[in-house]
Amino acid sequence: MDWPQSTCYLNGEWLPLAEAKISVLDRGFIFGDGIYEVVPVYFRKPFRLDHHLARFERSTREIGLANPLDRAGWRAVVDGLIDRCVDQNQFIYWQVTRGVAKRDFAFPAGTPPTVFAMSSPFTRPSREQREQGLRAVTRADERWLRCDIKSVSLLGAVLARQFAAEHHADEVVQFRDGSLTEGSSSNMWVVRNDTVIGAPRDRLILEGIRYGFVAELCDRTGTQFEVRRLRQEEVEGCDELMLTSATREILPIVSLEKIQNRDEPDDNRRKRSQSAFTHDRAPRFLRQTPNNKNIVSNTGTRPILMTFRTVPSRSMS
Ligand code: PDD
Repeated sequence: MDWPQSTCYLNGEWLPLAEAKISVLDRGFIFGDGIYEVVPVYFRKPFRLDHHLARFERSTREIGLANPLDRAGWRAVVDGLIDRCVDQNQFIYWQVTRGVAKRDFAFPAGTPPTVFAMSSPFTRPSREQREQGLRAVTRADERWLRCDIKSVSLLGAVLARQFAAEHHADEVVQFRDGSLTEGSSSNMWVVRNDTVIGAPRDRLILEGIRYGFVAELCDRTGTQFEVRRLRQEEVEGCDELMLTSATREILPIVSLEKIQNRDEPDDNRRKRSQSAFTHDRAPRFLRQTPNNKNIVSNTGTRPILMTFRTVPSRSMS
C-alpha cells in the first residue's frame, strides 16, 4: 500500500501513519467494538465539531464505552491533526475502541481504550457531481437495529455500498419493512410537493450532522420540512432525492433504479425492475448556480456556500 505521508495520533502519541500499530487483540479488530467520527475541515476549520463531539459522546454512552478525552482534549487532537496536515480541506477521522484484551465477548475490566485519529486531504464533490448528480439503487436494509450508534462495525454498510458498486451506482437507498431508512453512509432526503422530507431520527438511522443542517437550511429559506416514515412507493414517485454526508456534503440523486429483493417473488422473471425514476438533468431543488439563494454557513475564516433553492419546481421525467 502507498502510505499517505501524514501524521496521526495514537494513544497520546503523534507519529507517521505508516508507523502506527495496534495489537491484533484490539477489540476494534476482533469485534468491531468501538465508535468513530468523521469531521470535515474547510479552510483549516473543523465544521460543526461540537455537533460531532456531542454525537460521539452519545454513541460511547450507548455502548458503555468510557470516553477517554473531554471536549478540550478532543479539540486539541483535532487542532493537532489540522496543524500537521498541509491541506486546506481535510477530513478528520477518529475512533475509540474498548482496548486490547483476551478475546472474550463481555467487556474486559480495567482495560484502557485505544484512541486513534488521523487527517486526510478532502476532495470536495466535483462540480460535475453537484450538477449531474448521483445514481442510486434500492436495497432492503439488512443492518442491525442500532443504526443510531456510530459504530466501527460497518459490515452492513460495506455490503450495501458494494451492492451499489456492483450495480454501477454511487449509493443505495435502503428500505426497512417498506419504509425509507438511509444510504449506506449517508442520510436521504425526499422532496415531494415542495417539502423536504427526512426519515425519523430513531434507531433505524444515524442522525447525520448534516441532518440538522438540512433542517436549518429549510428553516432559513422558508422551505417546508417534514420528518416522517416514507413508503418506498413515495420515494420512487418523489419529485427529487438528495443525500447528505460529511464526505459528500449535499448531492442530488438523479437516478434511482429499483432492484428486486432476493426474497421477493420474481413476478416477471427479471432481476431488475424498471428505473424508479431518472432525471435528464440536475434536479432543481438543490443547485449550485449563483442565481439561487445562497446559504452561507460560516465555519470561521471563510464561508462555505451551500446552495438551496427556495422555490423548488418539479423536474422529474
Ligand atoms: N458516514 N448515515 C450513515 C449510516 C453514515 O455512515 C453517515 C456518515 C451519515 C451522515 O452523517 P454525517 O452527516 O454526520 O456525515 C448517515 C460517514 C461520512 C462515514 O462513515 O464515512
